[in-house]
Amino acid sequence: MSTERSQVLATRLATALNIPVIDARWQRFPDGEIYLRAMDSAQRVIICGSILTSDDLVEILLLKDTFNQSDITLVIPYMGYARQDKQFNVGEALSARAIAKVLGTDVSRVYTINIHEKSIINYFQTNATDISLSSPIADYIKTLSLDDPLLISPDEGALHLSKDVSSLGNWEYDYLQKTRLSGEEVRIAPKTIPVKNRDIIILDDIISTGGTQATAASMLYKQGARSIHTVGIHGVLASGAYSRLTSAGIYSISCSDTIERACSAYSAASVLADHI
Ligand code: R5P
Repeated sequence: MSTERSQVLATRLATALNIPVIDARWQRFPDGEIYLRAMDSAQRVIICGSILTSDDLVEILLLKDTFNQSDITLVIPYMGYARQDKQFNVGEALSARAIAKVLGTDVSRVYTINIHEKSIINYFQTNATDISLSSPIADYIKTLSLDDPLLISPDEGALHLSKDVSSLGNWEYDYLQKTRLSGEEVRIAPKTIPVKNRDIIILDDIISTGGTQATAASMLYKQGARSIHTVGIHGVLASGAYSRLTSAGIYSISCSDTIERACSAYSAASVLADHI
């Protein structure tokens, strides 16, 4: 059972698990409220829905209510609100906790994919597992046929991802030092990685405004990189990110189908199916 946001991934997941997809009608009341009617029922249901907007969250809540007599597995391929994972200033909401608490009730288990901060998993108050897409990312990078690529994470937080992916392809990896200046701007300290004449893959969990990857690319080109490709997991692509990355001279921009985009180049379905 899918929200409107995650129809393609839900269908791929159902195919991988050899189970049917339940048809649904999503409509709007005149005042903008969301109406849902599921066209079938089941004893065990997988609800699949990424959260980019508040409406995405409401759709999941409506689905959970519709199937309140069923055993529910909730798959949240991209969990928005996860970047406010701490109270950085007094009085702030700990958004990740607030959202996880609501989602984790009345479901038997939750799966997330490369959630922004692993510790958020503990806020779900049910069995919750975060799954890594390292393996499909490595398979995808192999299709790019690059010559001995160097995998670079733009910050220390994504280092574990580069490390895991590189071990699957026997590639070199490293990371940069990032300081966030605002929602759209970052500063990346030069690092003495020998990138001259090399094909580089910048690997990150989220491509939001593209500021991180564009800034990293500009620095790496100045240091002599031959080509730069970006691989993200969650293609949020806010504020014209795709154009920004293209203008930065990035050869290819790709993400998974946790958020369904034209540049979704690899799928989370088979890894999810294996875990479920
Ligand atoms: C932050 O810690 C994340 O891992 C990403 O680096 C960040 O969300 C990317 O944001 P943007 O594309 O806006 O630079």
